[in-house]
Amino acid sequence: SFNLRNRSFLKELDYTPAEWRFLLKLAAELKTAKYAGTEKQRLTGKNIALIFEKTSTRTRCAFEVAAHDQGAHVTFLDPGSTQLGHKESVQDTARVLGRFYDGLEYRGFAQENVETLARFSGVPVWNGLSDEWHPTQTLCDLLTMREHTVRHDNEIAYAFLGDAHNNMGNSLLVAGAMMGMDVRMVAPRSRWNPDEVIKAARRIAETTGARITHTEDVAEGVRGADFLYTDVWLSMGEPKSAWDERIDVLKPYQITMEVVRATGNPAVKVMHCLPAFHDRRTRVGQEIYEHTGLDALEITDEVFESHHSIVFDQAENRMHTIKAIMVATLGA
Ligand code: CP
Ligand code: NVA
Repeated sequence: SFNLRNRSFLKELDYTPAEWRFLLKLAAELKTAKYAGTEKQRLTGKNIALIFEKTSTRTRCAFEVAAHDQGAHVTFLDPGSTQLGHKESVQDTARVLGRFYDGLEYRGFAQENVETLARFSGVPVWNGLSDEWHPTQTLCDLLTMREHTVRHDNEIAYAFLGDAHNNMGNSLLVAGAMMGMDVRMVAPRSRWNPDEVIKAARRIAETTGARITHTEDVAEGVRGADFLYTDVWLSMGEPKSAWDERIDVLKPYQITMEVVRATGNPAVKVMHCLPAFHDRRTRVGQEIYEHTGLDALEITDEVFESHHSIVFDQAENRMHTIKAIMVATLGA
């Protein structure tokens, strides 16, 4: 067993592949225990602050429910209602909250902020998404992949289509490299991961046997994949003015039924961290439709609603995996 107590969870690279496997195993055990009604509380009496400088549905609710299941109390600090950032520095906020709380979740813009929070608070800090990384999501994604395949980690092939130059693209590339997977980043060259992230992933791949491919060719990239993965084409915090150009370059990378068929794998599963633009039932979806005439962006409604899609199993796993991170780093 591994002792991860008092460690922060800021990005994939902070943990070794063996530590990732330990967290995955713990998450699966916690999930089974919850279903069986035999869950043991290991966070009783702990106080946890959830700081969000960007909006959230899954991450916030996953932390709240997981903490409650485990006997901890949470304070939710919503975007704009704290002094953080405008009136008080991250350093000062960290030193205050570290006196009140046993653990902190932080979702914000700069990765540097979550790192600073960890350095100055003296308590475990969990990154609930930054512009660079979304590690609680990838832990969830790996558990979900394991549940939906009979293959071992190092036999799994997945293709990420769309905007690989964002937090999810980075996190999935590095996580796949750590698990020894066959990772294909299928995107226009202008939206490939930053060079330093590719270099880091390649270094890890040398030790784990992972295969890493960057390609602009959708048919080649998805062939034989067990999983297709996509994410929004414009991430939180990016200016709306980027829409036109982004849609233009990413359009060929939309997950359609044709792309699903191009895998050659009738059992291929489709994943998305959500929220997804697959219809125009949202305000933003409506705006995009009015502006571009497109009903869907990164994934068509047909694929999203098809039997290939495992996006809601995936969403559920946010809770079980976030619970595992809190229990491993803070649990009794
Ligand atoms: N996938 C994810 O992080 O969702 P939220 O933005 O709703 O937390
Ligand atoms: N890349 C997306 C992920 C949302 C969970 C964003 O940052 O908005």
